[in-house]
This record gives sequence, structure tokens and C-alpha cells, in this order.
Amino acid sequence: MERIVVFTGAGISAESGLRTFRGADGLWEGYRVEEVATPEAWERNPELVQHFYNVRRKAVLEARPNTAHLALAKLEEKYPVTIVTQNIDNLHERAGSSHVLHLHGLITKAQSSVDPTLVYSLASHEIRMGELCELGSQLRPHVVWFGEAVPTMGEAIGICRQADIFIVVGTSLQVYPAAGLLDEVPTHAVKYFVDPQATTLSRQSDIICFDDKATIAVPKIVEKLLA
Ligand code: APR
Repeated sequence: MERIVVFTGAGISAESGLRTFRGADGLWEGYRVEEVATPEAWERNPELVQHFYNVRRKAVLEARPNTAHLALAKLEEKYPVTIVTQNIDNLHERAGSSHVLHLHGLITKAQSSVDPTLVYSLASHEIRMGELCELGSQLRPHVVWFGEAVPTMGEAIGICRQADIFIVVGTSLQVYPAAGLLDEVPTHAVKYFVDPQATTLSRQSDIICFDDKATIAVPKIVEKLLA
């Protein structure tokens, strides 16, 4: 059976009401994401960074998976599917996808600010200053910031190398190392790219581009693959 790998970015969650990073509305409460999503920002002003993610976490918990997330989960009826996502929301899991690898972490969890391997579930949408890990240091969001290593990159490369069908959805392919995963996909794989700007963003001539929103194009591709 052909293996499907799906590589998603912020665009797949846009129609669930979660903002993308680099679109026209890409500013978040007046900040550039890069200004609040760095270890330096955490050093400078941890309260601000914590607040930034607390508000985003609340939005994630209030959002619902859309028809694109749901369609991708349905692919499992026929194929082995792995989702490799740059998103820190949990909408793929809530849509029913069983194998989701988060390259940039998961906002619904917390981690120790001194040991990123200490990861904790959260009872509420908030991490408060003064909430400590087992080593006695402040809890921070379980997200990979600009300038930090992507701990799941090796695993993601292995997954992409196994793909027979590779579907890219809603990413500007601006952020490395994640964007480099496309180069790991075997040449025999059939590749799709869904993004209103897919044709412009695509750097490879063998990708089948759908210059459309995720909720329009993804269910169409899934229907074809399940037929
Ligand atoms: N359906 C599909 N794609 C869409 C939609 C939609 N409804 N709306 C917008 N898009 C596309 C945009 O055209 C753009 O190409 O989603 C893409 C979003 O790009 P970015 O905002 O750059 O998001 P992403 O590529 O996921 O960013 C990568 O950068 O800020 C960091 O760590 C963060 O994981 C993130 C990484």
C-alpha cells in the first residue's frame, strides 16, 4: 500500500480561525512573531512571551478542525498516513489523525525552561509565571522558537523519505529546516501542493499545484485518493 505523508503549515488552520504568520494579517497583537518567539525574547521579557502564548493557546482550544483536517484523517481508511506539521495547534489530532509529528512543538503542552525534554500536559489554557518544572525552573510553552534546534527533524526526514504520495498544505516554505523536507521526498512520489499561492511558492516542477484554500482542495484530493 502506498504511504502518504502530509506536510502542513499555518494555512490549513486559517479557516479554523487561527492566523497565519506571514499573510496580510500576519501580525499578532502588533508583534512580529519573530520578536516574541525567540530565546532572547524570553530572556528579555518572559511575562510578555508567556502572555503571547497564553492568548494563542486559548484561541487554539476554542478553534475546531475544519474540513481539510477532517478529510486528511479520513485517508487512514485506506492508507498508512503520517502528518508532519509545522503547526503548534492540535487540530490534526482532534480531527482524528493518528500519526502526527509536530516539528515546532505543541502549544497545549508546557516544557521546562532549562531542559526541553521535560514536557508536561496543561490543565488550563494558561501557564502562569511561578509555575515550575520538577527541576524548579519556570515552565514555558512547548514550542520551538527561532534559533532553537528542531528536535524531531531527523524523524521527519526519515518519514518523508518513505513517501509514495506527498501532500503539502498551507505553508509559505520560508522557514528552515522544515521547508527543506521537500527535498527529502523520493522522486517517484506523487506530490500535491495546496495553497492559494502554491504555483508561486513551488520550487519544483513535478508538484501538482492547487492554488486554492485548504477546505476546497484537500477534500477533492482525498476523495480522488479514496475512490
Ligand atoms: N488554505 C491553504 N493555505 C492558506 C490558506 C488557506 N485557507 N490561507 C493562507 N494560506 C497559506 C498562505 O498563502 C501561506 O503560503 O498559508 C501559508 C502560511 O504561511 P506562513 O504564515 O508563513 O506559515 P508557515 O509556512 O506554517 O510558517 C512556518 O514559521 O513562524 C514560524 O514556527 C512558525 O511553523 C511556523 C513556521
